[in-house]
Amino acid sequence: MGGPLVSDPVVPQASDRIPLAGSDVSIPPLGVGTWAWGDKGTWGMGGYDQSLTESSIREAWEASIEAGIVLFDTAEIYGGGESERIIGRLLAADPGSRERVVVATKFMPSPWKVNVHSALLAAARGSLERLGIGSIDLYQIHGPISLRSHDAMAEALAAAHAEGLVKAVGVSNYSAKETRAIDGALRRRGLRLASNQVEFSLLRTMPQRVGLLDCCRELGVVPLAYSPLGQGRLSGKYSASNPPPKGRTFGAHPMAEVDTVVAELRRIGEAHGGRTPSQVALAWLVAKGAVPIPGAKNRDQAEQNAGAVGWRMLDEELARLDAAALYGKRGIRERIWQHG
Ligand SMILES: NC(=O)c1ccc[n+]([C@@H]2O[C@H](COP(=O)([O-])OP(=O)(O)OC[C@H]3O[C@@H](n4cnc5c(N)ncnc54)[C@H](OP(=O)(O)O)[C@@H]3O)[C@@H](O)[C@H]2O)c1
Repeated sequence: MGGPLVSDPVVPQASDRIPLAGSDVSIPPLGVGTWAWGDKGTWGMGGYDQSLTESSIREAWEASIEAGIVLFDTAEIYGGGESERIIGRLLAADPGSRERVVVATKFMPSPWKVNVHSALLAAARGSLERLGIGSIDLYQIHGPISLRSHDAMAEALAAAHAEGLVKAVGVSNYSAKETRAIDGALRRRGLRLASNQVEFSLLRTMPQRVGLLDCCRELGVVPLAYSPLGQGRLSGKYSASNPPPKGRTFGAHPMAEVDTVVAELRRIGEAHGGRTPSQVALAWLVAKGAVPIPGAKNRDQAEQNAGAVGWRMLDEELARLDAAALYGKRGIRERIWQHG
């Protein structure tokens, strides 16, 4: 899986590979988020979105792989395990795909999991079973909510790594301070922190503004950008009169504020031969040095999102988006879940 390093630092390509520290795993500059796969509550599978089916998911999977977008992000909790099961079925249907695909999943470190060591090992084994694979390419701590120390968490990750259950280890929603702490705890055990997955988009620039991206760069940690389309808002298809379905709380802002950002995305997209707002929003993140993992429910979305690489906007256009972007919120969720 260890491909060449980035071949052209100016125009990102799907074939570029970014190494994950402490492993021989490498990832493309863009991935796919799979929270919606098997999820009814937020994403409407088997509920409000009748067009989201295992068949539309298979098409999104195939289109992504065809385009070279081979990083898939899931979690033990997505769809109560169904997202991992769907990925397991997709891999089983095409055994050759395991060689090409990078599977990232997550451990939920709920505060009541006091014995984090045995809880993490059991969770990793559960994920492996649902995914039907021998080793997880990137195993992430889902959020900074454990009551146990960074040392205890690093020890558990190191045990999973030593047992060959996981190849690279990462975190999610960690602040810069927490990122440094767990990276240090991992280094003391001969491991490295490969990634920190945070909400980063034109509707939440906080990770850039508070120095989290700089911290990741300094430590060699890859920042993965989740909800990079503001849960669909930056695609431009939602408006005040057609708001996104309820429950999409990441990237949530009054639609009038979102519209200003989308208008800039449209202007820039038009200047680049009709790139869509989604493609421009994702390209902005790639230019910032993050790896966006947009959710895709079908072939069209997957193909479109893959078109965020293979081109690059002008510095002046990036600056216009910087000016239009929104900082994000500081509320109860930020205190509990989103430290980064
Ligand atoms: N670590 C964490 O705490 C955390 C939190 C949230 C997400 N994540 C990860 O990040 C991934 C992505 O975030 P997300 O799914 O919340 O939000 P997102 O990627 O910003 O938005 C995804 C949704 O936008 C719509 N969409 C996607 N591409 C589109 C396109 N080209 N044109 C039009 N609409 C499009 C689809 O929904 P509709 O078609 O229904 O609008 C899709 O499900 C997740 O799947 C998950 O893997 C992690």
